[in-house]
Amino acid sequence: MTTQPTTTTPTTTEPTTTEPTTTPATSQPTASYLTGRLAPVPDEIDAIDLPVEGTLPPELTGRYFRNGPNPRPGEDGGHWFVGHGMIHGIRLRDGRAEWYRNRWVRTTRFAGAPYVHERGVDLAAVPANTHVIRHADRILALVENGLPYEMTPELDTVGPCDFGGRLATAMTAHPKEDPITGELHFFGYGWAKPYLTYHRLSAGGELVESRPVDVPGPTMAHDFAITRHHVVWLDLPVVFDFDLVGRGMPYRWDDAYGARLGVMSRATGDVRWFDIDPCYVFHVGNASEDEHGRVVVDAVRYSPGAFCGFWPTIGGVANPAAHTGGAALHRWTLDPATGVARDEQLDDLDVEFPTINETRTGLTSRYVYAVGKDAIVKYDTANGTSRAHQTGERSPGEAVFVPAPDAGAEDEGWLLSIATTEHGAELLVLDASDLARVASVRLPRRVPAGFHGSWIPDEAPGA
Ligand SMILES: [Fe+2]
Repeated sequence: MTTQPTTTTPTTTEPTTTEPTTTPATSQPTASYLTGRLAPVPDEIDAIDLPVEGTLPPELTGRYFRNGPNPRPGEDGGHWFVGHGMIHGIRLRDGRAEWYRNRWVRTTRFAGAPYVHERGVDLAAVPANTHVIRHADRILALVENGLPYEMTPELDTVGPCDFGGRLATAMTAHPKEDPITGELHFFGYGWAKPYLTYHRLSAGGELVESRPVDVPGPTMAHDFAITRHHVVWLDLPVVFDFDLVGRGMPYRWDDAYGARLGVMSRATGDVRWFDIDPCYVFHVGNASEDEHGRVVVDAVRYSPGAFCGFWPTIGGVANPAAHTGGAALHRWTLDPATGVARDEQLDDLDVEFPTINETRTGLTSRYVYAVGKDAIVKYDTANGTSRAHQTGERSPGEAVFVPAPDAGAEDEGWLLSIATTEHGAELLVLDASDLARVASVRLPRRVPAGFHGSWIPDEAPGA
């Protein structure tokens, strides 16, 4: 894939499966995930009538919410992924930026409850720091080691959600909404059997299916994918290690585990596994079925060296290995006729946080958006090209695609991204078709680089 000139180095990723140990930052050097653009903010604020450069499309009437770890002053959980979730919210309406506010997710862990206790694991005592979505009129703050937390549109915490007592596992931070059925597919993983469980919510938000999936061991499963007829599993060699419990994230690279992608029939639950070269994937862009019945998966792939180079920089423990590169967009094509998985590197830029037009989730799609250290990148997988919007000294966060009303083309819409420095932040609004800057909203404070978010449109004008 050819690329317009840009310089990118790996931004990071996230996820979370945490241990509750919190050690005060005392005489130790301040950890990398507590400084610079990752440094947490100390409090919650509100601001109204935010300054706007350019013209905000009036069609962008709703809320942009973005989640990320934000430990309280003096806290250091030992890993970037374990800080308490804080959601930054920006309210846009009719061409104006009405307000900004940031709120911690008030979990029981935030109130001091331990994740592990004598009776087992408390799935509510989690940081809820990875994503925030809306499904079936529930706004949910998500983290992969526990229950989602329901939030109000004003970012007050309602409480943990177990879907009427039906959800007995954790819930991934990367559920997938089927654009055809409106169902929400997700999974939970953990260190005890069953290590992996598939779940499905109806379009109305009722948990209607839970199905254990047989995998060899407990791994850190951050994402997955769906297609029209399948669920795609990533069973990769970052494994749970009891010896690391209490040290932030008890997961490490394991050369012996192997690596495989699984294609599970949504109808029967049968899984076909495809061996692949060892690697790690935090994030999938999309998956789909081609005209030959093959499953095509676009994802950001870390080589073993890239993962083991990155993991310790945010508090993890890794096997010694050279940092041989970053994370790049790959495509796997899984052919059920041959049992073979073909792996193609689509580009060599170091990127993360792949996003798409989510009305194409599980369906054939052409464009993948991603971010590098100082650029928002758009990949055209049909013709093998890409282009970039440079952000200079500002580090862009995940670029969330918002379709234009009655959009015809897949890329007709906008990208929203919070770009941050050590001193300030703005909400960038780009035209997704050509990455031109449409507007920017100056935020009243610095926003730490975080994880994932969603555009939550108003249900009706004036809502
Ligand atoms: Fe993620």
